Amino acid sequence: MESKGHTIIPSASLIPPETDPTALFTTAGMHPLVPYLMGEKHPGGNMVTNSQKCVRTIDIDEVGDESHLTFFEMLGNWSFGSYFKKEAIEWSFEFLTNKEWLGISSERLFVTVFEGDENAPRDDESARIWQSLGIPKEQIFYKGMEDNWWGPAGATGPCGPDTEMFINGIEIWNDVFMEYNKTIDGRFETLKQKNVDTGMGLERIAMVMQGKNNVYETDLFEPIMEKIESLGHPVSKWTLDVQVRAKRIIADHIRASVFIIADGVEPSNAGRGYVLRKLIRRAVRHGKILGIEKNFIAEVTKAVIEIYKDIYSEVEESKDKIFNELENEEERFGKTLERGLKELNKLNLIGEAQKIESGREIKKFNRVDAKKAFYIYETFGFPLEMIQEELAERCLLVDEEEFKKFREEFREEFQKHQELSRTASAGMFKGGLADAGEQTTKYHTATHLLHQALRDVLGNHVIQKGSNITAERLRFDFSHSQKVTPEQIKQVEDIVNEKIRENLPVICEEMSLEEARKSGALGVFEQKYGDKVKVYSVHAFSAEICGGPHVEKTGELGKFKILKEEASAAGIRRIKAVLE
Ligand code: ALA
Repeated sequence: MESKGHTIIPSASLIPPETDPTALFTTAGMHPLVPYLMGEKHPGGNMVTNSQKCVRTIDIDEVGDESHLTFFEMLGNWSFGSYFKKEAIEWSFEFLTNKEWLGISSERLFVTVFEGDENAPRDDESARIWQSLGIPKEQIFYKGMEDNWWGPAGATGPCGPDTEMFINGIEIWNDVFMEYNKTIDGRFETLKQKNVDTGMGLERIAMVMQGKNNVYETDLFEPIMEKIESLGHPVSKWTLDVQVRAKRIIADHIRASVFIIADGVEPSNAGRGYVLRKLIRRAVRHGKILGIEKNFIAEVTKAVIEIYKDIYSEVEESKDKIFNELENEEERFGKTLERGLKELNKLNLIGEAQKIESGREIKKFNRVDAKKAFYIYETFGFPLEMIQEELAERCLLVDEEEFKKFREEFREEFQKHQELSRTASAGMFKGGLADAGEQTTKYHTATHLLHQALRDVLGNHVIQKGSNITAERLRFDFSHSQKVTPEQIKQVEDIVNEKIRENLPVICEEMSLEEARKSGALGVFEQKYGDKVKVYSVHAFSAEICGGPHVEKTGELGKFKILKEEASAAGIRRIKAVLE
């Protein structure tokens, strides 16, 4: 790409700038480049290229298969209003197939293009360009918005149709033609300039080039996998499949944690810190599946740092901090684990079932509520296999069919949770507490739930502008320029009531303002809060800097109901709500 006139630029941090409240981590190469896709001038000119560190937790459940990772490097090239489809596709094709570069046979290459819809026309132009390069029609597929449209990275921003390249059924590269901007009201307006945004997974292309079946066999992972193998664990009672997956999860999660810490995040109970904590704890628990008894994170970390220290200097520079944080968390988790096991022992049965086998034999088995198991999974970081194991040891899930059902319920629970846990990163808080009576305390917690629910339903532009609480009701002002529709009101109420029903713990943590900022808690960071601030988190849903007080469990709130929604000032709406 440099030989075609692109300027090589360094990878940006994994932590997006504060001005970008749309995501916890940098998820794509284009992410730090949004201002330039919108028309600002890049100091490197209008053609740039790099390898960008990325973290995508959305795929965490897939980690352990051949190609999904939470941390990966994305190779990309960009045109800010310079070249468009023709050059982008020709250069992608040349890089993949020319002997001078990767030299992959074009017979192995399958591509997809956008089939068109009401937002943008069918992309015959890209298909024609592929054909002109010798890709036969049979290797070109038209797909819809679901597959062949990329972006925006957050709720709004640059996006467009894309053409994706596959080898052996795995997507390795994506050329996005970003000529649209998605607006807050869901419209696609054309951008000032036509841009190109491309992304190729380094680990995946390494897998293709090195002739491996999965990314963990490439030289980017081999030394890490060897280290995990060498930890000398005794024979595990788990099937080979589960063990292989556990090793891969350990490798991926520790690698991701190393890079996240190197960019300044510490484990905590909210936002980025919470993601980091979850990654570390999942790695530790999967070590237990392999039967590793001793602490092992430091050794695996050493292998990760060795691979990357000459490429990403921050990894070498923050070495001490990385070891410190990882080892501390591993240690701390040991203690949590004990509590988690106790909690598991307290799991209530939701019933006893009978099963008649061969028409006569009656088998009895106990059932556990998947929601409760999910709570253990979330709070203590127990992987599903671990829960299965622990429950089996307690004779709680002894029937295969029942367990299959349980896994499905569990997955549903997990997905629901993922949809609702998009944590916010910046905003404003002004306490408006009249007194600290029991009712007002409840309303104060309800305000946090309402704030996050509004952001989930309306978008992250929603920021608290004021609040006033009495023992009878709450009043909440927030930034939003249109009327909130009755449907949206209903959605917001439903989310709040669901969080109440889940009876989630409200946790208070004291930390420095800087830590709070890094953890992604909502709050005004410019404002003086004093040295230490309190961050109140409603388990995996909301986190805000706040003086409190709050209820201990959301279940105490009762039923939440919005009475009124109205304009308060220009661009500010007001909601009045009660707890019944
Ligand atoms: N931004 C595009 C992607 O992440 C290239 O696939």
